[in-house]
Amino acid sequence: MATAPPLVDGTTVFSAESYFATQPPPTSLQLDVENVSGFIKRHAASGRNVVLVTSGGTTVPLELNVVRFLDNFSAGTRGATSAEYFLKSGYAVIFMHRQFSLQPFSRHYSHSTNPFLDFLEIEPPTSSATASAGAQIRIQPESHAELLSVLSAYKDVHAQGLLHTLTFVTVNDYLWLLRAISQEMGVLGRRGMYYLAAAVSDFFLPRQKMSEHKIQSGKGSLHIEMDQVPKVLKPMVEEWAREGYIVSFKLETDLNLLIPKARQALERYGHQVVIGNDLHHRKYRVVLGKKGGAEYTETWIETSPTAHTEIEEEIIRELMWRHQKWIEKGVVKS
Ligand code: PMT
Repeated sequence: MATAPPLVDGTTVFSAESYFATQPPPTSLQLDVENVSGFIKRHAASGRNVVLVTSGGTTVPLELNVVRFLDNFSAGTRGATSAEYFLKSGYAVIFMHRQFSLQPFSRHYSHSTNPFLDFLEIEPPTSSATASAGAQIRIQPESHAELLSVLSAYKDVHAQGLLHTLTFVTVNDYLWLLRAISQEMGVLGRRGMYYLAAAVSDFFLPRQKMSEHKIQSGKGSLHIEMDQVPKVLKPMVEEWAREGYIVSFKLETDLNLLIPKARQALERYGHQVVIGNDLHHRKYRVVLGKKGGAEYTETWIETSPTAHTEIEEEIIRELMWRHQKWIEKGVVKS
């Protein structure tokens, strides 16, 4: 195994290459790749566009027998909602999400904001039956139409085999999966889109530096020096997904930083679109930045907080249109 080059202060700069040479893959990787490969090949053969949606936050474990970990903020709303609109628009979707974060369709009945049991009613048993045997469960009449619509879309997507789901927990799971899936998606050429909405840890503890057992308290404060997670957008653009249409996200809490950071990402990585969102307005306002040669352009998308619309519907409509142009530009005309 190659080692990452050490720096003078003791921290290490990992390139993507040295990261994968020194950090072990998740045990489920091979099986996950076999399964997703079949899905990709089937849709590549049918000529359908395929999008990889990453969603939710990654964790950084502090111990090998993990009791404590650092987490990244994300409920998975952006990813799960976007996946639904991609499906509605005819894309096949690989939904790579943080275990237990929101998922397309079931997100409408999340346990915390819209508990499923609240939509059900118990009908009393008829007099002849015993209480438990005769009781019927029914859906509240006022919730019926919406549930039927969500359920129909869900069943339809599964009957057509349009949704493939994979999970990650740690940043290490995420990086290994992202690389493997991007490489498998190579067969799609320009028909592959990458929609990177997951909130990815910037710092991690390499396996070689992790304590095997639970870090003991009682010795005063805890000092942990973490290494920087390599930015994988660069190898994605240059090696793993050379023909793919790559959309990254930029989350900021200071609105003044949003545009400069989005621009910087485009210049640094050379991918197709950066979607900037600020933490407090992310459900109602985003900005799509893109670069064409030396020219940088931005498109704002806004919805009203009081309207019954989801901003992801607008985002996906705009991206589909741009992706289609990207596909057409790549077709060599004889
Ligand atoms: O799920 P919700 O609660 O709805 O929240 C959605 C969201 C706010 C998390 C989402 O819209 C969002 O902004 N996601 C990206 C947040 C983020 O991690 O930004 P970043 O600055 O760490 O990374 C920017 C981009 O670089 C990301 O697209 C990521 O794919 C990429 N990256 C990140 C880390 C890394 N080591 N390599 C990368 O290439």
